[in-house]
Amino acid sequence: MSTKRIQYDDRTLSSAIAVDERAAYAESVALAESMLAEKTGQGSDFLGWLELPTKTTDAELDAISSCAANLRTKADLLICIGIGGSYLGARAAIDFLGSSFEDQRTPRVVFAGHNLNSDYLSDLKKLVDTRNVAVNVISKSGTTTEPGVVFRIVRKWMEEKYGRAEAAARTVATTDPAKGALRTLATQEGYTTFPIPADVGGRFSVLTAVGLVPIAFAGIDIKKLLAGAREAQKFCSGPSIDTNMAARYAVNRNILFRRGKLIEVLASFQPQLHFVGEWYKQLSGESEGKNMTGIFPASLDYTTDLHSMGQWMQEGVRTVFETFMVLKGTATTLTVPKFDKNDDGLDFLVGRSVEEINRNAYRGTLLAHQDGGVPVATITLDDRSPETLGQLFYFFEKMVGISGYLLRVNPFDQPGVEAYKKNMFALFNKPGYEEQSKALAARVKMLEG
Ligand code: PA5
Repeated sequence: MSTKRIQYDDRTLSSAIAVDERAAYAESVALAESMLAEKTGQGSDFLGWLELPTKTTDAELDAISSCAANLRTKADLLICIGIGGSYLGARAAIDFLGSSFEDQRTPRVVFAGHNLNSDYLSDLKKLVDTRNVAVNVISKSGTTTEPGVVFRIVRKWMEEKYGRAEAAARTVATTDPAKGALRTLATQEGYTTFPIPADVGGRFSVLTAVGLVPIAFAGIDIKKLLAGAREAQKFCSGPSIDTNMAARYAVNRNILFRRGKLIEVLASFQPQLHFVGEWYKQLSGESEGKNMTGIFPASLDYTTDLHSMGQWMQEGVRTVFETFMVLKGTATTLTVPKFDKNDDGLDFLVGRSVEEINRNAYRGTLLAHQDGGVPVATITLDDRSPETLGQLFYFFEKMVGISGYLLRVNPFDQPGVEAYKKNMFALFNKPGYEEQSKALAARVKMLEG
């Protein structure tokens, strides 16, 4: 038996998807499940994430926790440098489980290396100047340009502030166990290192040291996160969509996609879920968007975005389906207070909790969007706990693995992300890119106009 802290409720899809339509997927789901379990499908070298919850040992988790605790004795701010799968999982977890206001988080984790912006980095420098700082540089390949460039800059600041030896003692590198420029540098400088398993790709790596080091530094219990994921392994496996929640979600998405619902909006009603949406977009977009196919993942934060994208969701082009994420209960309760006069006309809400109002906003939105022709389903989370988040991470990962195979793509590669990099290197005349440099010259001239 498993303890489910998340529920996927697709009863609201009954008018959009017939029972026998789902039943027709039985064979494909069984095949996708066996391709994952037996490692016989495309990208089978990258299936290590499937068993991370059961295979990660307490000793490995203890090593991460004690490194984080040691860093916390030196630093109250961790600069986490990485991009894509090397930062989104940690950011999602820390935002979901931490205070809504970053200034209230102690210790605090900030992120860099996921953009190329001088002003962002100059603001970061002010933190380096004024705070006790540690750095976690994360790159599986060890050669990604954005974190590479930013780590050079931050390393310089750290060495200027602390001296080379102390800067190294405050730096943790999470990278390939054997190869890559970051591994070489870490060995040379004597950084503490954690390996990223060779068979776990970036966007599936939140439950490796990639996500766990910064999450542990933020004071979150990483064993509970893994324990949650272990539970999800149980209810996200097997060939039956009646018992495998991830497979059921994958099938629903696939049916809707084939019917022209090309966009999935993951809409949450809790601001703390914003970066779970960002993490999910990378996970599903990079896994499925290839071979000229793939659902376009989007995310919206309600009720905030009901006042911007709400109009489009209600009446825009009907190529969209929507998966809501709602929280069963908040940790605190605030109610609407009463005043002498009903100046704002809100007396009908007096004594109602903010979450009750939010709940009815969700119900009202779901029904309105359904009436507007948007197929809708809901993921309900029990609470904002590491166990629940661990379940959610694993549920989404497993769903995407199955969904990719249903779409007949390799969900575990990302050849398309190389295109912009090659152009960027050519524009800098990086050795080896001479031909491409010449080919781009005229086009770039036009851009400069
Ligand atoms: O999912 C992926 O593999 C990518 O998005 C990577 O996470 C991202 O490109 C960062 O790569 P790296 O960790 O090698 O720097």
